[in-house]
Amino acid sequence: MRPLVYNPAMRSNLVSRRQIVLAAAAGVPATALGACSGARPTSPVAVAARDVRLVVEAQRTADGAGVRLRRALGTRALPMLDPFLLLDEMHSDRPEDYLAGFPTHPHRGFETVTYVLEGAVDHKDSLGNHGHLGPGSIQWMTAGHGIVHSEMPNHETGNSRLWGFQLWVNLPASRKMMKPRYQDLAPDRVPEAMVQDARIRVVAGEAGGVRGPVEGIVTSPTMLDIAIARKGRAVTPLPDGHNALLYVIDGSAEFGPSATTVREGQVAVLAERGDLSVRSGDGVRFLLFAGQPLGEPVARSGPFVMNTEDELRRAWEDYRSGTLVDAG
Ligand code: CO
Repeated sequence: MRPLVYNPAMRSNLVSRRQIVLAAAAGVPATALGACSGARPTSPVAVAARDVRLVVEAQRTADGAGVRLRRALGTRALPMLDPFLLLDEMHSDRPEDYLAGFPTHPHRGFETVTYVLEGAVDHKDSLGNHGHLGPGSIQWMTAGHGIVHSEMPNHETGNSRLWGFQLWVNLPASRKMMKPRYQDLAPDRVPEAMVQDARIRVVAGEAGGVRGPVEGIVTSPTMLDIAIARKGRAVTPLPDGHNALLYVIDGSAEFGPSATTVREGQVAVLAERGDLSVRSGDGVRFLLFAGQPLGEPVARSGPFVMNTEDELRRAWEDYRSGTLVDAG
């Protein structure tokens, strides 16, 4: 396919990015849209949409005290995508699949993001925090030097379903031992944006001119929950150079200039540059994550993610001796 020349001057024009991408898909040169009157770009800037680099099936597994889940990231097929370390989905109508939960356990060196769509997750920690994450709520927890907590999935009265996600985001060496921090967001704190045919809940980063409420995260992450109805399409920019992956949680869609199909239960890694472009025949819902890669060595062992084996040993020692939470 012909590479699409993207001229920043076109941003201020009446031709939308959507039209440009549609034109590209139809093999129409961007200049034929009449947008770039006279101003031929001297140094063309890349292709407009990110292509799909890799599609992987989420793996069924169990974790915690026996919670059945699907692991989209953190598998042998896809161990990590810097700065993202793990992505789990819990989705079941059977309480025995999730009620055992994740009793008391530690973390150090990264951040955990919990997103609940149905049911609930109750949490309690070593700092005396406790909370209830209901449908639509988010918890962005920066474990920093150490936290010991429990995360117990539950269901609402009259509905036995739990549907939730946990993402792990790495911290750079300079911030691994920072003070722990929580950003708890009730559903009404997460704004929605409409971008062409897409309805987007913006948790972190930006879409359609709407900024998400999660702030001050080192890797400047984007986290979007995107729903597109039948025969819908959308194009939205992603930060240049940020690694991006998406996980389809319902339906299917075609992504990127090559229209690669990604279905429910599959995770796709996108190229490093360009916009997100999606079209769906039957409707789709997916989670999109993008973040600045850290480019540092990763040493991981269970609930700890550090840079070196020595630091991992120290984390286990601190946990065993009860000083994980105090270490600073
Ligand atoms: Co945890």
